[in-house]
Amino acid sequence: MNDGSVLRLGVLGSGRGSNLAAIGRAIGEGRLAAKLVAVLSDQPDARILHLGRQFGARTECIPPETLRGRLDAETEAKFVEVLREENADLVVLAGFMRIIGPVFLAAYPHRIINVHPSLLPKHRGSNAAAQALAAGDKITGCTVHYVDEGVDTGKIIAQREVRIEPGDTADSLQARIQAAEHELLPAVIAGFTRHE
Ligand code: GRF
Repeated sequence: MNDGSVLRLGVLGSGRGSNLAAIGRAIGEGRLAAKLVAVLSDQPDARILHLGRQFGARTECIPPETLRGRLDAETEAKFVEVLREENADLVVLAGFMRIIGPVFLAAYPHRIINVHPSLLPKHRGSNAAAQALAAGDKITGCTVHYVDEGVDTGKIIAQREVRIEPGDTADSLQARIQAAEHELLPAVIAGFTRHE
């Protein structure tokens, strides 16, 4: 394949990086014509950075100065700078535990997506699997959506359902939701083309 048609991905995460691993697998198996160009985190010890290095991406930890759960404008600009240097076409939030602000959103309009472990608009925010159990839901799932200035409020791109089984705990349910995420996220990314 001509490298010019390959989607250049920037992935941001704060944790384990199992979704990054799923993207990397999809690329390796030829299901996704993309290249991981940057893997960025706000957490120096995040496993996602280690995985990013294994996939040959540029990896950087950019620790925010302040604002727990958010990004200050200066830090946002640093993330954008690295992504621009690597010519990223699409930014994927995969367990990034901070809200993206106006500087970042303006730099990548309709080019930042997030994966969330519920059928949005239900159960926004953290502990979505536990929220679904507490609500007595029979079905939950995962959502890939565009990122806007809210928390898990952006336009929905695709969802996948996961049945809640009797005896499920938040952990067992979260594990099955993540398995669904690992299929859904690479499939959604495959629907994006290079940024003209
Ligand atoms: C995923 O379950 C995603 O839905 C949520 O954060 C988790 C990240 O997991 N936003 P991982 O780091 O990809 O394993």
